[in-house]
Amino acid sequence: MAPYLDEAFGNPSGMHAVSRLAKNALEEARERAAAVLGAERPLDIVFTGGGTESDNLAVIGGAMAAGGGVVTSATEHKAVLRSAEFIAKLGRRVEIVAVDGAGHVDPTAVVQAVTDDTALVSVMAANNETGVLQPIAEVADAVHDAAPHAVVHTDAVQAFIGEDVTVASTGADLISLASHKFGGPKGVGLLYVRNGVELEPILHGGGQELGRRSGTHNVAGVIGMIAAMEVAIADRPAFRQRVAAARDAFEAELQAAVPGFEINAPRNGRLVQHSHVRLPGIDVETLLVRLDQAGIAAAAGSACQSGAIEVSHVLAAMGMDQRRASECVRFTFGWTDDATTGSVAGAAVAAVVGEMR
Ligand SMILES: Cc1ncc(COP(=O)(O)O)c(C=O)c1O
Repeated sequence: MAPYLDEAFGNPSGMHAVSRLAKNALEEARERAAAVLGAERPLDIVFTGGGTESDNLAVIGGAMAAGGGVVTSATEHKAVLRSAEFIAKLGRRVEIVAVDGAGHVDPTAVVQAVTDDTALVSVMAANNETGVLQPIAEVADAVHDAAPHAVVHTDAVQAFIGEDVTVASTGADLISLASHKFGGPKGVGLLYVRNGVELEPILHGGGQELGRRSGTHNVAGVIGMIAAMEVAIADRPAFRQRVAAARDAFEAELQAAVPGFEINAPRNGRLVQHSHVRLPGIDVETLLVRLDQAGIAAAAGSACQSGAIEVSHVLAAMGMDQRRASECVRFTFGWTDDATTGSVAGAAVAAVVGEMR
């Protein structure tokens, strides 16, 4: 990234030699991103300011361009759900398909929710909170068969690092990615747009990205993103092995030491780096503070806002009541983890839980 913050600090839309350096690097990055995703053309890649923007452009831009409504699932990231709400405010039909107790969306239920006025179907590849994998390829096939007029979007922001996410593997017409979820810089992402899919821009201005996303490019960010993308896919098999070993060792420690310990997603149906667990009788807000002091960063399944506990919409959609949801914690593993760090973390969490009980 460094040259694009220094000697090649040109605006790729400019006419100067330094701009051409930036422009060439940007277009090369577009070709490489298209190759990683198996896109038909480099032009099918739109660079954005991250996952939220990619989701907004896909859902709002896709629905507005086709003049129709949206079908999505109850456990999507808020970037998708709030975009769908915006489309509803415009008077379009928005259907939120329920998930089962394990967090899965049923492709048949998705198709049943699609009508002639559905412009776009959005189902995530994997849930960011529980790690639950959705059957996105089945959803895309079923929707394309039953309703060829509808465009299929998948938010693959959380899935990309560990799962095979390509145009072919997802079958989607629009794919959102965020660089910081696979080791790249924050505040940059991309949206894959299948040739022929129309999008109404949500950012209006200078007409960059073929008018689909105005605004001066974050060249260094894009360069960092594509480098991280290529490293992530080359390292994926090793990453999966290491984090699976970390997760297994972590969960084994908790299983042995914490009575009533539960894992909230099926082992084979979730992201390899996720462990979303329930620790009965534990006040998770206190646990998170204690874990932070012990150097372990985890996240709660409920958020305390203005004094009132708000159950995460993901856990609520899976049918969890407030008490059970308030006992849930999300742990995720990364590059530096292996069976040893997983086991150390599991023992440390078990010790804190033991003290709290
Ligand atoms: C599934 C999912 N979608 C979208 C986003 C939003 O991405 P960003 O933070 O890059 O805007 C996130 C971020 O956590 C996510 O996990």
